[in-house]
Amino acid sequence: LPELFRSIPLEHQANFMGLVNSSEDSGSVLTSKERRKLKRRLTEELETEGVEDAEDVSDLLLDMEAQDRLNAILPLLKDPQGSELLNLAYQLSTLQKSTNTIKTATDRAAKMVFALKTYSHHDHTGIKELANVIDGIETVLTLYYNKLKQGVEVIKNYAKIPDVYCYADELNQIWTNLIHNALQAMNYQGTLIVDVERRARYITVSITDSGSGIDPEIMPKIFEPFFTTKRAGEGSGLGLDIVNKITKKHKGKVEVSSVPGKTTFSIYLPIDLDPDPYAETHNNLR
Ligand SMILES: Nc1ncnc2c1ncn2[C@@H]1O[C@H](COP(=O)(O)OP(=O)(O)O)[C@@H](O)[C@H]1O
Ligand SMILES: [Mg+2]
Repeated sequence: LPELFRSIPLEHQANFMGLVNSSEDSGSVLTSKERRKLKRRLTEELETEGVEDAEDVSDLLLDMEAQDRLNAILPLLKDPQGSELLNLAYQLSTLQKSTNTIKTATDRAAKMVFALKTYSHHDHTGIKELANVIDGIETVLTLYYNKLKQGVEVIKNYAKIPDVYCYADELNQIWTNLIHNALQAMNYQGTLIVDVERRARYITVSITDSGSGIDPEIMPKIFEPFFTTKRAGEGSGLGLDIVNKITKKHKGKVEVSSVPGKTTFSIYLPIDLDPDPYAETHNNLR
């Protein structure tokens, strides 16, 4: 790099660096329509200024998000070395962008590994632990990140809630099943709302999707094990049965309401569940 910089004429160095770094601070993404429009304008301006290959130059400038710097960099572009300098700046800026992408991706991978570790942390002691329900929901949402990012808007309304004694891993299965059903119901396109509230002695978690809704005719059956309206391979029909069983184990309850475009499953969990370390052992012995 030092050698490279020496080869850049002194008067262009500041603008060269500006070009390399311009995508750093913009943060905005152009739609293809906006881009076409900008490109047309830029190309015209460049042509008026007598810059060669105006169209290609516009493309590079737009890739570098340097369109707003045109006035400052015109002298650089008009330099006999201009296209060389521009290409160099472009390569460096690409390098920088890729490095940032790698950084974001590794951050996300680390988060994902953490979520998986949290999720699979299996507690066979049968003893309840003090945990925050929101942490579990966040873990599940992280695991679903890839399915969500394409077309689902996630709205989180989290109230401040106390930690509760619970089987945290099993609660995660509730959130997994409800979120999975919600996403399937809207074919991974739409809005997912997660409300966490405190109502009297309960924590309520509501998962709402903008999907097709549940036909009133099948409503009485949805909690039955093996009841499914999905194709083989897509559903086992066990999800809501599991949700129901785990909720009962926590002395809670499940409520459903559904109209086309708005289906909500609400889980009520009592706040004052005791640690009750022996209940599970007794159950196992029975
Ligand atoms: N959010 C939802 N929107 C629409 N239908 C749902 C939703 N959640 C559950 N259902 C219905 O309840 C049925 C049973 O759900 P579930 O027990 O999770 O089994 P599965 O998802 O394997 O079919 C589903 O097949 C579907 O018809
Ligand atoms: Mg399911």
